[in-house]
Amino acid sequence: EVWNPNGKYRVVSTKPMPGTRWINLLIQQDCRVEICTQNKTILSVEDIIALIGDKCDGVIGQLTEDWGDALFSALSKAGGKAFSNMAVGYNNVDVNAANRYGVAVGNTPGVLTETTAELAATLSVAAARRIVEADAFMRGGLYEGWLPHLFVGNLLKRQTVGVIGAGRIGSAYARMMVEGFKMNLIYYDLYQATRLEKFVTAYGQFLKANGEQPVTWKRASSMDEVLREADVISLHPVLDKTTYHLVNKERLAVMKKEAILVNCSRGPVIDEVALVEHLKANPMFRVGLDVFEDEPYMKPGLADMKNAIVVPHIASASKWTREGMATLAALNVLVYHLYKK
Ligand code: DGY
Repeated sequence: EVWNPNGKYRVVSTKPMPGTRWINLLIQQDCRVEICTQNKTILSVEDIIALIGDKCDGVIGQLTEDWGDALFSALSKAGGKAFSNMAVGYNNVDVNAANRYGVAVGNTPGVLTETTAELAATLSVAAARRIVEADAFMRGGLYEGWLPHLFVGNLLKRQTVGVIGAGRIGSAYARMMVEGFKMNLIYYDLYQATRLEKFVTAYGQFLKANGEQPVTWKRASSMDEVLREADVISLHPVLDKTTYHLVNKERLAVMKKEAILVNCSRGPVIDEVALVEHLKANPMFRVGLDVFEDEPYMKPGLADMKNAIVVPHIASASKWTREGMATLAALNVLVYHLYKK
């Protein structure tokens, strides 16, 4: 699909993206916009090299693509100076390779903070109240009437929410769980989440002033402290060598038998084989997963686990956010390619 065919600068998007604002922005700056509409979910390096062609000023790509030496070399040969990932995470991008070829790299933070935090909160509550199992039960025609033990789950109020990685998304999630469910907070991060601490303190004072027990917060000195103490744990680290398999067999063993683990960051942060074993051995332990170690696949056994909720990497999938991500990605390309000249 080609927009503004006579535009001076050639910008390629490896996928159609929501909305038209991003296309208009590029056209206004004299870009010819080419959108790949190939009926293939994940493009290979060869596919993208063909898209880049002989002349290309900038590319907007996706987190499913391997942006390493081969692609940055092809982009630089075609005269390209800018690449933007349509994602906040950029573990699929070799930034050093981009630097070597003089290509600037952008990502799309900010616009997906609340949307992603909302999905983490949704998975936490859905796991606590066994929503997916209960839905399947109803649809399976198994409901015969109210029973005292039917789908009994966990009350979140006054339980402890644990956040690993209290950056933008982790902090937004923490606020939702603290304010929405009156949960106490324990978090682990290399940096102090001062604004989050202030928020929980202020909310605790508000509760106290209204005659309610205040919520509390604690900055843990180790990740294991969070795993040991929290009832619901949500993972929000970036994926790099230090966070690969951050949650492994040993760390799963530290967690409470009835804990809930949520992951909306990147799949390889959890050792998924160890997780499946843990879910089998501990039926009251529950997970809510938006991301997987070998996307689009799940490790054998995971799909059979009733104590797992699995969704296909949709944490940022609200219309407003996806349009915002597309717009930011276009702006990144414009800023880096056009205005830096
Ligand atoms: C990201 O942006 O990194 C998410 O995984 C997709 O929105």
